[in-house]
Amino acid sequence: MSGERKVRLGVIGSGKGSNFVALAQACRDAKLPAEIAVVLSDVAESGILKHAVDFGLPARFIAPGPFRTKLDESAESNYVTALREARVDLVVLAGFMRILKGGFLAAFPRRVINIHPALLPAFPGLASWKQALDHGVKVTGCTVHWVDQGIDTGRIIAQQAVPVLDGDTAETLHERIQQAERVLYPQTIGELIRKGVVKVAVA
Ligand code: GAR
Repeated sequence: MSGERKVRLGVIGSGKGSNFVALAQACRDAKLPAEIAVVLSDVAESGILKHAVDFGLPARFIAPGPFRTKLDESAESNYVTALREARVDLVVLAGFMRILKGGFLAAFPRRVINIHPALLPAFPGLASWKQALDHGVKVTGCTVHWVDQGIDTGRIIAQQAVPVLDGDTAETLHERIQQAERVLYPQTIGELIRKGVVKVAVA
């Protein structure tokens, strides 16, 4: 970690923002040696943007373009510009429900991280907790991984197992996984910074 300034995180999400809140609290309480430089979302009314405003952090909706599962070229470039302007050292995906393509990833090489609600490589893609229930597994969990061009295929950094209990519904299982996420994500990013794997990258 640089002595000059803290590692700056750019958090991107589409949803309610519970992972973001865990990260923002960990930064605020100095449990995570980083600061959140900007919060971006492809959903104007998302919880993550509202929470970011509550934390007094810069928060922006950036229109994703016409596609449902990815950003179009000009949107991608708008996201890259916003993250660069905020001098972000690590891009943290927190429930961002679009696939990032090569252009975005090339702008932040080995500097984009994601959390996924399953023990990858099991159950990539959408509603992984439902996939876990449907398969009848007894243990699932969450995974923090580097982002590559595949769907939840990047190199695994950390995992936390979560039991599937008798009588679990999709909702109860998802909530138990999300509780684990809120611990694992700040902890893992903190370890990456303390080990010097993630460091101040932008002057
Ligand atoms: C989290 O459970 C995260 O793992 C998942 O979206 C949720 C966002 O919740 N991400 C994915 O499924 C990405 N493939 P949050 O908005 O409350 O943090």
